[in-house]
Amino acid sequence: MIKTKITEMFGIKHPIFAAPMGPFYTKELTVAVSEAGGMGVISHTNLLGKDSFKTMKEDMEYVVEHTDKPFGFNIRTGRMQFDAKKLCRQVPKIIMENQKLKEQCIYALTSAGSSKMLPASKNFQALKEKSDIKHFHVAPAAWLADKCVASGVDGMVVTGSEGGGHQSYEKTGTLVLLQEVMEKHPDFPVIACGAFGNGYGLAAALGMGAGAIAMGTRFIASQESEFHSKYKDIVPPAKPQDTILVTGFLGPIRLWKNQYALNHGLIDSREEKMAEEVEFTMEQLIEDGKHYESVYLDGDLVTGAIPLGQSCGLVYSIDKVKDIIESIVKVAESRLKEASTYIQ
Ligand SMILES: Cc1cc2nc3c(=O)[nH]c(=O)nc-3n(C[C@H](O)[C@H](O)[C@H](O)COP(=O)(O)O)c2cc1C
Repeated sequence: MIKTKITEMFGIKHPIFAAPMGPFYTKELTVAVSEAGGMGVISHTNLLGKDSFKTMKEDMEYVVEHTDKPFGFNIRTGRMQFDAKKLCRQVPKIIMENQKLKEQCIYALTSAGSSKMLPASKNFQALKEKSDIKHFHVAPAAWLADKCVASGVDGMVVTGSEGGGHQSYEKTGTLVLLQEVMEKHPDFPVIACGAFGNGYGLAAALGMGAGAIAMGTRFIASQESEFHSKYKDIVPPAKPQDTILVTGFLGPIRLWKNQYALNHGLIDSREEKMAEEVEFTMEQLIEDGKHYESVYLDGDLVTGAIPLGQSCGLVYSIDKVKDIIESIVKVAESRLKEASTYIQ
């Protein structure tokens, strides 16, 4: 077993977290990861015109019916995420009102926007006083990690540009970013994310001072994830070069290279993106959402938006979550033991 600051903080067996993967559903994956001793995470899901708050409430209730282990949830707090404020207000309230949720839902992860929106919610402040919930925020660049620390979060998920899904404009890889952050904030609770898929990666992250890793792509290719089977099937044969960074709804996004991805350019700066957003209409946002829905419903591999990380190159089969986690931990343990013998 590997014990770290993060496994101790959350009372989990293994230093492995599921990365949030909205707008897709991840309640089955959450149950599987938490049951296997990691930390499952309910995603911010807003597909098919459904109310994201209602979906999150239903998903959370489903999770506590199927596991008694700890789990978490994600809210994307970006400028263009119009439901974020409502989620920050209402989600802590439903957790507070349900004893099982209060005990088990102890990891609140915000991302893709401000780290201050959730702590500003009075309901979250009340929940923090009365439960063990910890607030982490995703830091995809060194200056954003500094902002996270200054804003008083309990920890951060340091995510480099190899990862699947939304990325920062700085496009710094995980290895450099982790070194930048750990050197500056050596005692701060950090979960390393982006490009992790096996025990070698876990050992490296722990060696650099992170207390856990979070994985998205590796868990898409799991038997329990509720991704369309065609989506899962592209992961084992995919190689890092089959992914590409393009302009997404919230900024740069790493997708599987298909017709949809190749039709999007890559906006270079936040300023350029904000100028573009002024022109955005609700119809355009709804239209973009349809490209995620077609992947979810039909496994549309041509015109669908398919977030995927370069870690796809580390995945060779679609496995059970428990086997994925246990094999990663086993390899990491042996790497770390061997590395410790280098020290004389
Ligand atoms: C399908 C998919 C959807 C994602 N959606 C979200 C999201 O809703 N919120 C978020 O913070 N990150 C999101 N991400 C990013 C992941 O949380 C994580 O940073 C990424 O998967 C890490 O890289 P990896 O895929 O190599 O493990 C998404 C990633 C994927 C692959």
